[in-house]
Amino acid sequence: MKEGIYYIGASDTEIDLFENQYPVPEGMAYNSYVIIDEKTAVMDTVDARVTEKWQKRLTETLGDRKPDYLVVQHLEPDHSANIGWFAEKWPEATIVLTAKAAQMLPQFFADIKFKTQTVKEGDTLNLGKHTLQFIMAPMVHWPEVMMSYEQTTHSLFSADAFGEFGATTENGEDDDDWTPGARRYYYNIVGKYGVQVQGVLKKAAALKIETIYPLHGPILRENIGEYVGHYANWSSWKAEQKGIVVAVASIHGNTAKAAETIVEKLKAQGVESKLIDLTRTEVSYAVAEAMDHEGLIVAASSYDAGLFPPMENFLLHLKAKSYQNRKVGIVENGSWAPTAGKIMRGILESMKGIEIVEPMVTIKTKPNETVWAQTEEMIKALTGKK
Ligand SMILES: Cc1cc2nc3c(=O)[nH]c(=O)nc-3n(C[C@H](O)[C@H](O)[C@H](O)COP(=O)(O)O)c2cc1C
Ligand SMILES: [Fe+2]
Ligand SMILES: [Fe+2]
Repeated sequence: MKEGIYYIGASDTEIDLFENQYPVPEGMAYNSYVIIDEKTAVMDTVDARVTEKWQKRLTETLGDRKPDYLVVQHLEPDHSANIGWFAEKWPEATIVLTAKAAQMLPQFFADIKFKTQTVKEGDTLNLGKHTLQFIMAPMVHWPEVMMSYEQTTHSLFSADAFGEFGATTENGEDDDDWTPGARRYYYNIVGKYGVQVQGVLKKAAALKIETIYPLHGPILRENIGEYVGHYANWSSWKAEQKGIVVAVASIHGNTAKAAETIVEKLKAQGVESKLIDLTRTEVSYAVAEAMDHEGLIVAASSYDAGLFPPMENFLLHLKAKSYQNRKVGIVENGSWAPTAGKIMRGILESMKGIEIVEPMVTIKTKPNETVWAQTEEMIKALTGKK
């Protein structure tokens, strides 16, 4: 690695669910870096799952040196698991962190005494040729988060921001397209905090950034403008893909069939459309698709005087991630007393800037002509096409 910055992160290819919820079929990278200069700084630690690999890489990279600093940008356990080990091995090294992180640190390591230095917006830490400048990033996506900008190499250590699901090579590289994995990661992990992301992007706009060193996913060395552009869109809940997602949760298949027909109808009108079966699609993928499209139709069976749970789960996840500023159509199904629609409407109405297009479509088991007429009207209201 060039310019005195060394990648010492490690990937876990055995892990099934990141944060016990997000499928990571391609594994997960936990990144950490060492800056070797007159003074030596370690940038974050890693998750307990890759402790051994990281400790080996760290000690090999340090050689005879002792670290002077451990910069802690984020205290979530996937980055902080090894702070205790570090402090006990090198008690004379200084832990550099925000005041909020210093306040939270004892919750994670009650029995360890730390030598700490707290930093705030704009503070710098000179290492020799390299100087770290600290950028506060509260609630992206925890309160104690900061980023660090290295002034000589124009490097942004971006904490969890700009991360991606998936493993990387030993050099922190990955050949796959960054965008799909980074999008699902963004909307599900950082998603709720778009306003705070916008705040940090504003500060970053004043900096020349040549390389982004995130805490997950590959190091970003090219097309920085493109990545920052995606974050500008995602943090303002702006759809990058045209068209409408039709998300369906059907017990016996009738609602699913109707949803397929709706997708065909939309396509026939020249509106791009994508069907998502919520009973077969893990919810983080469904959330990312909904967020990334212009419009949404939700279609679900009634269930025990309520709503079929895969749809309820999806809507609650969308709400948790602050899905907003979209038009949404509703299709419900019930064989005797449909209840799904009212519940879908209630959850959607509790979200910001959601316009529910009328009429809501009610199917009684199988669609009839009246239902299709209602559906046409709902589609018209949603797409604005006649
Ligand atoms: C466990 C269970 C509970 C159901 N509860 C209701 C209900 O409370 N009200 C209703 O009208 N239909 C109820 N239904 C019928 C479903 O809503 C019915 O399967 C659906 O309307 C037909 O669409 P589908 O083939 O997409 O599931 C229930 C079905 C099942 C299997
Ligand atoms: Fe995190
Ligand atoms: Fe993380």
